[in-house]
Amino acid sequence: MNESEYIAIARVSDFKNSSIRSYNLFGKKIGIIKRENGSFYAIEIACKHQGADLTAGAIVNNIATCHRHQWKYNLETGECLNHDSPPLRRYGLVIEGDSIKVSTCPLEE
Ligand code: FES
Repeated sequence: MNESEYIAIARVSDFKNSSIRSYNLFGKKIGIIKRENGSFYAIEIACKHQGADLTAGAIVNNIATCHRHQWKYNLETGECLNHDSPPLRRYGLVIEGDSIKVSTCPLEE
């Protein structure tokens, strides 16, 4: 865990019927994703091309395809799969009761 603060932006109970949701954190789009095993992680969810929300496109087997120009990302690692692009930045995430808290800064900068 780095020096960043953690802020509550979602609830575990928000994910009863969905496995991915996007949130705004100080103007940044952050995706919170629930894995099949029930664990959670947080990752930047704005496309590196022109900033489209990746939850608006297809997501199959954890691969997101941007609905605007089809850039593809591995949402677990953040890697862009079909363009020379920096990866989506990953954020820290902790769960306290029903509260999901996300780090205010990316894990790696
Ligand atoms: S905005 Fe995502 S591919 Fe262009």
